[in-house]
Amino acid sequence: MSEKITRVGIIGAGIMGTDHATLLHESVSGAVVSAIADMDLPKATALAESVGAKPFSDGFELIKSDQVDAVIVASADMTHHDLVLAVLAAEKPVLSEKPLATTSAEARDVVIAERALPGSPSLVSVGFMRRFDPTCVELHQNVVDGKYGPALLAHSVSRGTTSGPGTTNRSALSNSAIHEIDYLPWLLGSAVAEVSTIGTKQSGNAVGFQDPQMFSLRTETGILASCELFLNARYGHDVRFEVVFEHGAVSTVEPTLLQTSAELSHSTSIGPDWRRRWRNAYRIELQSWIESIQTGKPNAAMATARDGLASLLVVDALVKSQELGGETVSVISIDDFLRS
Ligand SMILES: NC(=O)c1ccc[n+]([C@@H]2O[C@H](COP(=O)([O-])OP(=O)(O)OC[C@H]3O[C@@H](n4cnc5c(N)ncnc54)[C@H](O)[C@@H]3O)[C@@H](O)[C@H]2O)c1
Repeated sequence: MSEKITRVGIIGAGIMGTDHATLLHESVSGAVVSAIADMDLPKATALAESVGAKPFSDGFELIKSDQVDAVIVASADMTHHDLVLAVLAAEKPVLSEKPLATTSAEARDVVIAERALPGSPSLVSVGFMRRFDPTCVELHQNVVDGKYGPALLAHSVSRGTTSGPGTTNRSALSNSAIHEIDYLPWLLGSAVAEVSTIGTKQSGNAVGFQDPQMFSLRTETGILASCELFLNARYGHDVRFEVVFEHGAVSTVEPTLLQTSAELSHSTSIGPDWRRRWRNAYRIELQSWIESIQTGKPNAAMATARDGLASLLVVDALVKSQELGGETVSVISIDDFLRS
Protein backbone atom coordinates (compact mmCIF):
# COMPACT_ATOMS: atom_id res chain seq x y z
CA MET A 1 0.00 0.00 0.00
CA SER A 2 1.48 3.37 -0.97
CA GLU A 3 1.90 5.89 1.82
CA LYS A 4 -0.34 8.95 1.68
CA ILE A 5 1.63 12.19 1.43
CA THR A 6 0.21 15.49 2.69
CA ARG A 7 1.78 18.55 1.04
CA VAL A 8 2.23 21.19 3.72
CA GLY A 9 2.66 24.92 3.11
CA ILE A 10 4.22 26.96 5.92
CA ILE A 11 3.61 30.69 6.35
CA GLY A 12 6.41 32.39 8.28
CA ALA A 13 10.08 31.46 7.79
CA GLY A 14 11.23 32.70 11.20
CA ILE A 15 12.19 30.62 14.23
CA MET A 16 9.02 28.51 14.42
CA GLY A 17 8.47 28.20 10.64
CA THR A 18 12.05 26.97 10.27
CA ASP A 19 11.63 24.51 13.14
CA HIS A 20 8.37 23.12 11.75
CA ALA A 21 9.79 22.88 8.21
CA THR A 22 12.89 21.04 9.43
CA LEU A 23 10.93 18.65 11.64
CA LEU A 24 8.41 17.88 8.89
CA HIS A 25 11.23 17.35 6.39
CA GLU A 26 13.43 15.18 8.61
CA SER A 27 11.32 13.56 11.30
CA VAL A 28 7.62 13.34 10.32
CA SER A 29 6.28 10.62 8.05
CA GLY A 30 3.50 11.07 5.49
CA ALA A 31 4.24 14.74 4.80
CA VAL A 32 6.38 16.91 2.57
CA VAL A 33 6.93 20.65 2.85
CA SER A 34 5.77 21.90 -0.55
CA ALA A 35 5.69 25.68 -0.01
CA ILE A 36 7.12 28.35 2.29
CA ALA A 37 5.82 31.92 2.43
CA ASP A 38 7.35 34.92 4.12
CA MET A 39 6.90 38.61 3.44
CA ASP A 40 10.70 38.60 3.45
CA LEU A 41 11.12 36.65 0.18
CA PRO A 42 14.87 35.89 0.52
CA LYS A 43 14.10 34.31 3.91
CA ALA A 44 11.30 32.21 2.37
CA THR A 45 13.56 31.23 -0.53
CA ALA A 46 16.45 30.12 1.70
CA LEU A 47 14.18 27.93 3.85
CA ALA A 48 12.28 26.61 0.80
CA GLU A 49 15.56 25.58 -0.84
CA SER A 50 16.64 23.68 2.26
CA VAL A 51 13.53 21.46 2.17
CA GLY A 52 12.84 21.35 -1.60
CA ALA A 53 9.74 23.59 -1.46
CA LYS A 54 8.41 26.50 -3.54
CA PRO A 55 8.89 30.00 -2.06
CA PHE A 56 6.13 32.62 -1.87
CA SER A 57 6.20 36.22 -0.66
CA ASP A 58 2.45 36.22 0.06
CA GLY A 59 0.82 33.79 2.49
CA PHE A 60 -2.58 34.17 0.81
CA GLU A 61 -1.09 32.98 -2.52
CA LEU A 62 0.40 29.96 -0.74
CA ILE A 63 -3.01 29.10 0.72
CA LYS A 64 -4.59 29.09 -2.76
CA SER A 65 -1.78 27.02 -4.35
CA ASP A 66 -2.83 23.63 -5.73
CA GLN A 67 0.52 22.30 -4.43
CA VAL A 68 -0.64 22.83 -0.83
CA ASP A 69 -3.03 20.40 0.94
CA ALA A 70 -2.64 21.78 4.47
CA VAL A 71 -1.18 24.94 6.01
CA ILE A 72 0.88 25.84 9.09
CA VAL A 73 0.59 29.47 10.16
CA ALA A 74 3.85 30.42 11.89
CA SER A 75 3.96 34.14 11.14
CA ALA A 76 3.55 36.94 13.70
CA ASP A 77 0.61 36.69 16.14
CA MET A 78 -1.41 39.54 14.59
CA THR A 79 -1.44 37.79 11.18
CA HIS A 80 -3.03 34.54 12.42
CA HIS A 81 -6.69 35.62 12.27
CA ASP A 82 -6.74 36.68 8.60
CA LEU A 83 -4.57 33.80 7.43
CA VAL A 84 -6.54 31.12 9.31
CA LEU A 85 -9.81 32.51 7.91
CA ALA A 86 -8.32 32.35 4.40
CA VAL A 87 -7.28 28.70 4.92
CA LEU A 88 -10.82 27.91 6.10
CA ALA A 89 -12.24 29.64 3.00
CA ALA A 90 -10.05 27.28 0.94
CA GLU A 91 -11.43 24.37 3.05
CA LYS A 92 -7.95 23.09 3.94
CA PRO A 93 -6.69 21.95 7.38
CA VAL A 94 -4.65 24.53 9.26
CA LEU A 95 -2.32 24.31 12.25
CA SER A 96 -2.08 27.82 13.65
CA GLU A 97 0.74 28.62 15.99
CA LYS A 98 -0.54 29.99 19.27
CA PRO A 99 -2.30 32.27 19.89
CA LEU A 100 -5.14 31.52 17.47
CA ALA A 101 -5.69 35.29 17.28
CA THR A 102 -4.74 38.30 19.38
CA THR A 103 -8.26 38.97 20.71
CA SER A 104 -11.19 36.78 21.72
CA ALA A 105 -13.41 38.59 19.16
CA GLU A 106 -11.05 37.51 16.37
CA ALA A 107 -10.89 33.95 17.70
CA ARG A 108 -14.71 33.89 17.72
CA ASP A 109 -14.65 34.74 13.96
CA VAL A 110 -12.57 31.61 13.41
CA VAL A 111 -14.86 29.35 15.47
CA ILE A 112 -17.91 30.69 13.63
CA ALA A 113 -16.27 30.39 10.17
CA GLU A 114 -15.25 26.78 10.83
CA ARG A 115 -18.72 25.88 12.11
CA ALA A 116 -20.33 27.43 9.01
CA LEU A 117 -18.45 25.17 6.57
CA PRO A 118 -20.46 22.36 4.96
CA GLY A 119 -20.44 19.37 7.34
CA SER A 120 -18.71 21.45 10.08
CA PRO A 121 -15.34 19.70 9.62
CA SER A 122 -12.61 20.10 12.28
CA LEU A 123 -10.09 21.97 10.14
CA VAL A 124 -8.46 24.26 12.72
CA SER A 125 -5.77 23.07 15.14
CA VAL A 126 -3.80 25.32 17.47
CA GLY A 127 -0.12 24.74 18.32
CA PHE A 128 -0.41 24.17 22.05
CA MET A 129 2.34 21.56 22.02
CA ARG A 130 2.59 21.05 25.80
CA ARG A 131 -0.35 18.66 25.25
CA PHE A 132 2.06 16.42 23.26
CA ASP A 133 5.15 16.65 25.46
CA PRO A 134 5.76 13.18 26.98
CA THR A 135 6.29 14.50 30.55
CA CYS A 136 3.22 16.75 30.35
CA VAL A 137 1.16 13.88 28.91
CA GLU A 138 2.28 11.56 31.72
CA LEU A 139 1.35 14.14 34.33
CA HIS A 140 -2.09 14.40 32.69
CA GLN A 141 -2.38 10.59 32.79
CA ASN A 142 -1.82 10.70 36.57
CA VAL A 143 -4.80 13.03 36.88
CA VAL A 144 -6.94 10.79 34.66
CA ASP A 145 -5.90 7.56 36.47
CA GLY A 146 -6.58 9.02 39.91
CA LYS A 147 -3.89 6.74 41.40
CA TYR A 148 -3.09 9.31 44.12
CA GLY A 149 -6.66 10.39 44.60
CA PRO A 150 -8.27 13.53 43.20
CA ALA A 151 -6.13 16.50 42.13
CA LEU A 152 -6.47 19.35 44.64
CA LEU A 153 -3.94 21.96 43.54
CA ALA A 154 -1.57 22.67 40.65
CA HIS A 155 1.47 24.90 40.25
CA SER A 156 3.18 26.13 37.14
CA VAL A 157 6.40 28.03 36.58
CA SER A 158 7.25 29.52 33.18
CA ARG A 159 10.55 31.39 32.95
CA GLY A 160 12.51 32.65 29.96
CA THR A 161 15.74 34.52 29.40
CA THR A 162 14.44 37.81 27.94
CA SER A 163 11.17 39.34 26.79
CA GLY A 164 10.69 40.50 23.20
CA PRO A 165 10.62 44.23 22.36
CA GLY A 166 7.33 45.99 23.09
CA THR A 167 6.00 43.32 25.48
CA THR A 168 2.96 44.52 27.46
CA ASN A 169 1.08 43.02 30.39
CA ARG A 170 -1.50 41.69 27.93
CA SER A 171 0.94 40.36 25.30
CA ALA A 172 2.96 38.57 28.02
CA LEU A 173 -0.25 36.66 28.74
CA SER A 174 -1.59 36.22 25.18
CA ASN A 175 1.78 35.31 23.68
CA SER A 176 3.58 33.41 26.44
CA ALA A 177 1.42 32.46 29.45
CA ILE A 178 -1.22 31.31 26.95
CA HIS A 179 0.61 27.96 26.90
CA GLU A 180 -0.08 27.41 30.63
CA ILE A 181 -3.56 28.93 30.29
CA ASP A 182 -4.34 26.22 27.73
CA TYR A 183 -2.40 23.34 29.30
CA LEU A 184 -3.61 23.63 32.93
CA PRO A 185 -7.35 23.14 32.23
CA TRP A 186 -6.49 20.33 29.79
CA LEU A 187 -4.24 18.75 32.44
CA LEU A 188 -6.90 19.04 35.13
CA GLY A 189 -9.84 18.10 32.88
CA SER A 190 -11.90 21.18 33.67
CA ALA A 191 -12.33 24.63 32.11
CA VAL A 192 -11.16 27.78 33.91
CA ALA A 193 -14.07 29.38 35.78
CA GLU A 194 -12.35 32.33 37.48
CA VAL A 195 -8.96 34.00 37.74
CA SER A 196 -7.10 36.46 39.89
CA THR A 197 -3.76 38.24 39.63
CA ILE A 198 -1.36 38.92 42.48
CA GLY A 199 1.10 41.83 42.41
CA THR A 200 4.74 41.15 43.23
CA LYS A 201 8.07 42.97 43.19
CA GLN A 202 9.16 44.04 39.70
CA SER A 203 12.40 42.82 38.06
CA GLY A 204 14.84 45.59 37.13
CA ASN A 205 15.33 43.79 33.79
CA ALA A 206 11.72 44.30 32.60
CA VAL A 207 10.70 47.55 30.92
CA GLY A 208 7.11 48.64 30.31
CA PHE A 209 5.28 45.68 31.82
CA GLN A 210 4.96 43.71 35.04
CA ASP A 211 7.57 40.92 35.20
CA PRO A 212 7.36 38.52 36.96
CA GLN A 213 3.58 38.14 37.06
CA MET A 214 1.74 35.84 39.46
CA PHE A 215 -1.82 34.74 38.86
CA SER A 216 -4.18 31.94 39.72
CA LEU A 217 -6.74 29.99 37.73
CA ARG A 218 -9.63 28.15 39.36
CA THR A 219 -11.25 25.36 37.39
CA GLU A 220 -14.98 24.68 37.23
CA THR A 221 -14.28 21.66 39.48
CA GLY A 222 -12.69 23.94 42.10
CA ILE A 223 -9.00 23.12 41.61
CA LEU A 224 -6.71 26.12 42.14
CA ALA A 225 -3.63 26.49 39.90
CA SER A 226 -0.91 29.00 40.76
CA CYS A 227 1.09 30.40 37.84
CA GLU A 228 4.37 32.28 37.77
CA LEU A 229 5.32 33.94 34.48
CA PHE A 230 8.82 35.46 34.46
CA LEU A 231 9.95 36.37 30.95
CA ASN A 232 13.24 38.01 32.03
CA ALA A 233 14.51 35.33 34.40
CA ARG A 234 17.81 35.46 32.46
CA TYR A 235 19.22 32.03 33.46
CA GLY A 236 17.43 30.00 30.74
CA HIS A 237 14.11 28.54 29.57
CA ASP A 238 12.51 26.74 32.50
CA VAL A 239 8.92 25.45 32.52
CA ARG A 240 7.59 23.16 35.26
CA PHE A 241 4.28 21.81 36.47
CA GLU A 242 3.23 20.11 39.68
CA VAL A 243 -0.08 18.57 40.66
CA VAL A 244 -0.87 18.00 44.34
CA PHE A 245 -3.23 15.07 44.90
CA GLU A 246 -4.97 13.84 48.02
CA HIS A 247 -2.27 11.14 48.46
CA GLY A 248 0.81 12.47 46.70
CA ALA A 249 2.31 15.10 44.44
CA VAL A 250 3.69 14.68 40.91
CA SER A 251 5.91 17.16 39.08
CA THR A 252 7.46 17.33 35.64
CA VAL A 253 11.23 17.07 35.43
CA GLU A 254 12.92 18.47 32.34
CA PRO A 255 14.26 15.57 30.26
CA THR A 256 18.06 15.81 30.20
CA LEU A 257 20.51 14.30 27.76
CA LEU A 258 23.78 14.73 29.60
CA GLN A 259 24.97 15.29 33.13
CA THR A 260 28.46 16.70 33.65
CA SER A 261 30.44 15.84 36.76
CA ALA A 262 33.37 18.18 37.34
CA GLU A 263 34.85 20.49 39.94
CA LEU A 264 33.06 18.80 42.83
CA SER A 265 29.58 19.12 41.32
CA HIS A 266 27.10 17.41 38.99
CA SER A 267 25.39 19.70 36.46
CA THR A 268 22.98 19.65 33.54
CA SER A 269 22.55 22.51 31.07
CA ILE A 270 19.42 24.61 30.52
CA GLY A 271 18.32 25.63 26.99
CA PRO A 272 18.57 29.37 26.16
CA ASP A 273 15.08 29.28 24.66
CA TRP A 274 12.13 26.97 24.24
CA ARG A 275 13.35 24.94 21.26
CA ARG A 276 15.38 22.25 22.99
CA ARG A 277 12.84 21.67 25.78
CA TRP A 278 9.87 21.21 23.42
CA ARG A 279 11.48 19.69 20.31
CA ASN A 280 9.96 16.28 20.93
CA ALA A 281 6.56 17.82 21.64
CA TYR A 282 6.62 19.74 18.33
CA ARG A 283 7.54 16.55 16.45
CA ILE A 284 4.75 14.51 18.05
CA GLU A 285 2.28 17.37 17.52
CA LEU A 286 3.15 17.56 13.80
CA GLN A 287 2.99 13.78 13.34
CA SER A 288 -0.39 13.66 15.13
CA TRP A 289 -1.68 16.53 12.97
CA ILE A 290 -0.64 14.78 9.73
CA GLU A 291 -2.23 11.49 10.92
CA SER A 292 -5.49 13.23 11.80
CA ILE A 293 -5.61 14.86 8.35
CA GLN A 294 -5.02 11.52 6.63
CA THR A 295 -7.43 9.46 8.73
CA GLY A 296 -10.08 12.19 9.00
CA LYS A 297 -10.18 11.52 12.77
CA PRO A 298 -9.38 14.51 15.00
CA ASN A 299 -6.64 13.82 17.57
CA ALA A 300 -8.19 14.02 21.04
CA ALA A 301 -5.25 15.97 22.49
CA MET A 302 -5.01 18.53 19.70
CA ALA A 303 -6.27 22.00 20.62
CA THR A 304 -9.21 23.14 18.50
CA ALA A 305 -10.46 26.58 17.49
CA ARG A 306 -12.74 26.51 20.58
CA ASP A 307 -9.68 25.80 22.77
CA GLY A 308 -7.89 28.73 21.12
CA LEU A 309 -10.89 30.94 21.94
CA ALA A 310 -11.15 29.55 25.50
CA SER A 311 -7.53 30.53 26.20
CA LEU A 312 -8.12 34.10 25.00
CA LEU A 313 -11.23 34.45 27.17
CA VAL A 314 -9.04 33.56 30.17
CA VAL A 315 -6.49 36.19 29.05
CA ASP A 316 -9.32 38.78 28.94
CA ALA A 317 -10.33 37.88 32.51
CA LEU A 318 -6.69 38.11 33.71
CA VAL A 319 -6.25 41.56 32.14
CA LYS A 320 -9.47 42.67 33.84
CA SER A 321 -8.23 41.32 37.17
CA GLN A 322 -4.96 43.27 36.74
CA GLU A 323 -6.95 46.44 36.01
CA LEU A 324 -9.07 45.84 39.13
CA GLY A 325 -5.99 45.47 41.35
CA GLY A 326 -6.17 41.67 41.64
CA GLU A 327 -9.91 41.13 42.13
CA THR A 328 -11.25 37.69 41.26
CA VAL A 329 -12.87 37.78 37.81
CA SER A 330 -15.19 35.15 36.29
CA VAL A 331 -14.36 33.83 32.82
CA ILE A 332 -17.22 34.15 30.36
CA SER A 333 -18.30 30.75 28.99
CA ILE A 334 -17.54 30.09 25.33
CA ASP A 335 -21.18 29.47 24.48
CA ASP A 336 -22.26 32.75 26.11
CA PHE A 337 -19.46 34.56 24.27
CA LEU A 338 -20.41 32.98 20.93
CA ARG A 339 -24.01 34.15 21.49
CA SER A 340 -22.93 37.69 22.48
N1 LIG B 1 4.45 26.96 20.10
C1 LIG B 1 5.49 27.59 20.59
O1 LIG B 1 6.16 27.12 21.50
C2 LIG B 1 5.93 28.89 19.99
C3 LIG B 1 7.21 29.41 20.32
C4 LIG B 1 7.58 30.61 19.73
C5 LIG B 1 6.73 31.29 18.89
N2 LIG B 1 5.49 30.78 18.64
C6 LIG B 1 4.56 31.50 17.75
O2 LIG B 1 4.97 31.26 16.41
C7 LIG B 1 4.77 32.42 15.62
C8 LIG B 1 6.09 32.82 14.96
O3 LIG B 1 7.02 33.09 15.98
P1 LIG B 1 8.60 33.15 15.63
O4 LIG B 1 9.30 33.11 16.94
O5 LIG B 1 8.93 32.16 14.59
O6 LIG B 1 8.69 34.63 15.03
P2 LIG B 1 9.77 35.20 13.99
O7 LIG B 1 9.71 36.67 14.13
O8 LIG B 1 11.08 34.50 14.14
O9 LIG B 1 9.18 34.79 12.57
C9 LIG B 1 7.98 35.29 12.06
C10 LIG B 1 8.12 35.35 10.54
O10 LIG B 1 6.84 35.69 9.99
C11 LIG B 1 7.06 36.58 8.91
N3 LIG B 1 5.81 37.30 8.69
C12 LIG B 1 5.24 38.23 9.49
N4 LIG B 1 4.09 38.65 8.95
C13 LIG B 1 3.90 37.93 7.82
C14 LIG B 1 2.86 37.87 6.86
N5 LIG B 1 1.78 38.66 6.94
N6 LIG B 1 2.99 37.01 5.83
C15 LIG B 1 4.09 36.23 5.72
N7 LIG B 1 5.10 36.23 6.61
C16 LIG B 1 5.01 37.08 7.65
C17 LIG B 1 8.23 37.45 9.36
O11 LIG B 1 8.88 38.05 8.24
C18 LIG B 1 9.11 36.41 10.07
O12 LIG B 1 10.05 35.82 9.18
C19 LIG B 1 4.20 33.48 16.57
O13 LIG B 1 2.81 33.52 16.44
C20 LIG B 1 4.61 33.00 17.95
O14 LIG B 1 3.71 33.41 18.95
C21 LIG B 1 5.08 29.60 19.16
